[in-house]
Amino acid sequence: MQLEIDALRLSSELEELAHFTHVEASPDGTAVTRIVFTEDDLTARTWLKGLAAQEGFDVREDAVGNTFIRWIGLEPTLSAVGTGSHIDAIPHAGMYDGTVGVMGGLEAMRALKRSGVRFRRSIELLLLTSEEPTRFGIGCLGSRLISGALDAQRADRLRDALEAESDGTLKTVRKDAGYVGELGSVRLPQDFYHAWLELHIEQGPLLEREGLPLGIVTSIAAPAGYRFVIQGLGGHAGALLMPDRRDALCAASELILSIERHSLAANAASGKSDTVATAGSCEVFPGNVNSVPSRVVLQLDIRDTDPDRRERVMKAIRDDSAAIGGRRGVTIEEELVNADAPAQSSAHLVEVLDEICGDLGISAKKMVSRAYHDTLFMARITPVAMIFIPCRGGISHRPDEYASPEDIARGTLVLAHALAKLAAE
Ligand code: GLV
Ligand code: MN
Ligand code: MN
Repeated sequence: MQLEIDALRLSSELEELAHFTHVEASPDGTAVTRIVFTEDDLTARTWLKGLAAQEGFDVREDAVGNTFIRWIGLEPTLSAVGTGSHIDAIPHAGMYDGTVGVMGGLEAMRALKRSGVRFRRSIELLLLTSEEPTRFGIGCLGSRLISGALDAQRADRLRDALEAESDGTLKTVRKDAGYVGELGSVRLPQDFYHAWLELHIEQGPLLEREGLPLGIVTSIAAPAGYRFVIQGLGGHAGALLMPDRRDALCAASELILSIERHSLAANAASGKSDTVATAGSCEVFPGNVNSVPSRVVLQLDIRDTDPDRRERVMKAIRDDSAAIGGRRGVTIEEELVNADAPAQSSAHLVEVLDEICGDLGISAKKMVSRAYHDTLFMARITPVAMIFIPCRGGISHRPDEYASPEDIARGTLVLAHALAKLAAE
């Protein structure tokens, strides 16, 4: 089958998407911030729905704002072939994370339509809401709800971190954005999709390092998130003498180093680098230079290809946490945000992608995704796989994130061929 990807249009749409939202000039590149349900995010969604409508694709949205763009097949009652990703971006991020899978998915569908071939199955592009945890503290909100991995009532109570002073929750924020239905209705049945593919930048260095243009993801590592609330004793930075202190930030510092130490020890024991742990957010109260910190909220992101090892590392961190608390006279409370299982790609979909790459003369690498993706949750309701394309220096979640137009077009071409193959099944 002959398919043409309009690489120029795809690149210019990715630029447009980056630029009509909040961007800051940064010495490193275009710094994009697009937080879910902000005006920028809603504008981007309207623009995308407009592009879909121009093609005559069917557009529907669910109660959390997941947006379904469907090209209806010859047998509309058959389960559809799905593809998609996210367009929300963490603060001061790049312009390719997620967006390549959404805009590439749209271009793949347009290329299939241009080919003149019609398919049995419908093909559906999905813009998934809030893959990033920035606003509601938990990633992959839309796909968790689709797959039933997150309870609808718990989801509606998630606090809005963007307006920290207000008592906003997902429920109020989504309703203000125009998504008013019951969250329970977001869940999709097991046979809704025949298969699911996500195109994404690698966000790591391996493809570039090995000089390969494309990756086929065989599994996605298991992520978990925790919040530690450390309560000590505040006071005057001059008058509260050192022997009397119960400094919450000093305790947090020890805990951060314990997190690093146990992750490194797990890697040393396995001889691999599969355990990664990050204390990436630390709020200090009251946050004055001349006040002893009384309270700290520390967020931990920990991932591993082996969920049991991840739990063993957590146990070691927990033991340290109890010891630090006792020694320093502070309380440390741990709250689980999420502890997810890894996902495996479908052998059939990996084979389909492998064959397509072979036919197109593309050398592809089978690889693990260490970043999480909505596909982690789509895997709970349908067979999945992912296509990775290289990104310069393996850099992501930074303004200098970059993927070349050629690599984006190549990934999109492979996606289009795979959608065609699966939609004909
Ligand atoms: C997604 O952005 C992740 O944190 O892996
Ligand atoms: Mn991301
Ligand atoms: Mn992403």
